[in-house]
Amino acid sequence: MPSEVPAPYGTGPTAGNPAGALAPKPVARVRTHHLQQAKAKGERFAMLTAYEQYTAEIFDQAGIDVLLVGDSASNNVFGNETSIPVTVDELLPLCRAVSRSAKRALVLADLPFGSYEVSPEQAVATGVRFLKEGLAHGVKIEGGAFYAGTVRAMVQAGIPVMAHIGFTPQSEHSLGGYRVQGRGDDATRLIEDAVALANAGAFSVLMEMVPAETAAAVDAAIDVPTIGIGAGNATTGQVLVWQDMAGLRGGKMAKFVKQYADLRTTLSDAAKSYADDVRSGQFPGPEHSF
Ligand code: KIV
Repeated sequence: MPSEVPAPYGTGPTAGNPAGALAPKPVARVRTHHLQQAKAKGERFAMLTAYEQYTAEIFDQAGIDVLLVGDSASNNVFGNETSIPVTVDELLPLCRAVSRSAKRALVLADLPFGSYEVSPEQAVATGVRFLKEGLAHGVKIEGGAFYAGTVRAMVQAGIPVMAHIGFTPQSEHSLGGYRVQGRGDDATRLIEDAVALANAGAFSVLMEMVPAETAAAVDAAIDVPTIGIGAGNATTGQVLVWQDMAGLRGGKMAKFVKQYADLRTTLSDAAKSYADDVRSGQFPGPEHSF
């Protein structure tokens, strides 16, 4: 936990609750400048996806610094195969639930495919919806230097923007599938993308599926914090999709995923025990009856 980022629940200077015993303890919000300070001091921050109330609350209270309402909701909430079909109208209520539930974390929303590519005006209009209707604190868009003008327009409109480069899932069909980006000579392109986006005002640059060496070179080339997912260990922050991190999703995991729990087994065991109890007449017992 970076010392520059507001302390997690119950551990910071607000833990004594100066407002009085009955008042809720104030929690300081993580802001984009805290992430910037973390990079300047060589500290790191943690980011996870979240799509609804309880995980947002749990991750927030566990000290996750940034929550991303990712367009990965498409294939982790809505049952699609890729992130491409999810819409603004589908993501907005998820974003609102996460924003309402997180008291400390910076909440970012992905602008889904088709909601920002047409023009800077379209990107500003969609970003405004996520801040006004989704209550997000910033947004993330996928794409390289080509989107510098779009980022500039959004930042000028007051929308904090995280740029997402490297493997960009919304472009999986043009990139030829899930492939590592920025290998060999392509590293130069990635560095140029990051510099252009940071110069346009992006408050951070996220890199997905990029060789560790390339990601380190990108991080060294820009002053704003970098976030990695499958991008090695030199970035300021790390992000994972929470269902991967906590073992809720089944199937093959990407190499970059580390699983910290096996929620799929835990939930499945709980559901089987419940069904067994119902079928055998053990639930509800007298203690659950009126
Ligand atoms: O939507 C998402 O979950 C993402 C992460 C892969 C960073 O963009």
